Amino acid sequence: MSSLPRKVRIVEVGPRDGLQNEKGEVPTAVKLELIGRLADAGLPAVEATAFVSPKWIPQMADHTEVLERIRRKPGVSYPVLTPNLKGFEAARAAGATEVAVFGAASEAFSRKNINCSIAESLARFRPLIEKAMQEKIKVRGYVSCVVGCPYEGDIAPRKVAEVAAALYDMGCHEVSLGDTIGVGTPGKTRAMIEACMQRIPVEKLAGHYHDTYGQALANIYASLELGVATFDSSVSGLGGCPYAKGASGNVATEDVVYMLHGLGIETGIDLEKVVDTGIWISTILQRTPGSKAGRAIAAKKEKSA
Ligand code: HMG
Ligand code: MG
Repeated sequence: MSSLPRKVRIVEVGPRDGLQNEKGEVPTAVKLELIGRLADAGLPAVEATAFVSPKWIPQMADHTEVLERIRRKPGVSYPVLTPNLKGFEAARAAGATEVAVFGAASEAFSRKNINCSIAESLARFRPLIEKAMQEKIKVRGYVSCVVGCPYEGDIAPRKVAEVAAALYDMGCHEVSLGDTIGVGTPGKTRAMIEACMQRIPVEKLAGHYHDTYGQALANIYASLELGVATFDSSVSGLGGCPYAKGASGNVATEDVVYMLHGLGIETGIDLEKVVDTGIWISTILQRTPGSKAGRAIAAKKEKSA
């Protein structure tokens, strides 16, 4: 068996990727409590909100208030999405210390999601990244549709590597590879990561796998075998993407942490606290908690109480 990383960093994306897709309005106070609870559970990074157009994503319209009011825990980063300079300036004014640009490996998805071509998006990101670097604000890069696209179907690993390398070469400190619609299987994910590894050091890559087809944990395992040691996940599996109909949320943080701890991999995360947070937010959103590990751990706790 190939050796797996000893430590893994989890980037919690529930407050952004999860809540951007909610039908009802989630009060700002609930978002703030969610972010606080996740940081208290030991998540080293909690993606907090998105400085995108409120006309496109009304769920993130309170971005300034969210970022300004976060009770910041030392050592935790709170990245926010910024699609353009306007978003970057607003995020910076609200106190952002890390931002994320988001592109795609699919032309059609790029147009639907950010209303421009891939080349135009990269041209938009360049001045943003330059400005951020001048101000010592870290920039993460996302590539969406790394395995498949809801409009174009299969996406070639070479195309993903091209966009990922462009983001990395512009100065992104890490590139997160998004299986936006969760169609990946371990073999396809492996081929995609291998293509990216030819252009970017593996320690600068992150896996961001939605769980639509129940493959996300298997895809994480395949990525771990290649040395990827950063993964994005969403408490209780919240979310989806408004421009990828039918896509379910990210892999649940509870499930990922349970698997990693079972493999003897350190995360620094208190699983019980994440489980409690998953139950809490699911109750508020009036839905069944989306993590299988979370449900099992909560049921066991209740039985023994
Ligand atoms: P546009 O309409 O092409 O932009 O949208 P524009 O520059 O022509 O401006 C139009 C209006 O938007 C103007 O306002 C601007 O001021 C305003 P108006 O004059 O009409 O009143 N505007 C903004 N307002 C607030 N913040 C901004 C901003 N920029 C312009 N930053 C834009 C282009 C990129 C803004 C739009 O397409 C947008 O906001 N898209 C966001 C889409 C999004 O958030 N998608 C979900 C996140 S990505 C995701 O989930 C995938 C990921 O999880 C990885 C994966 O799973 O694959 C990351
Ligand atoms: Mg996503």
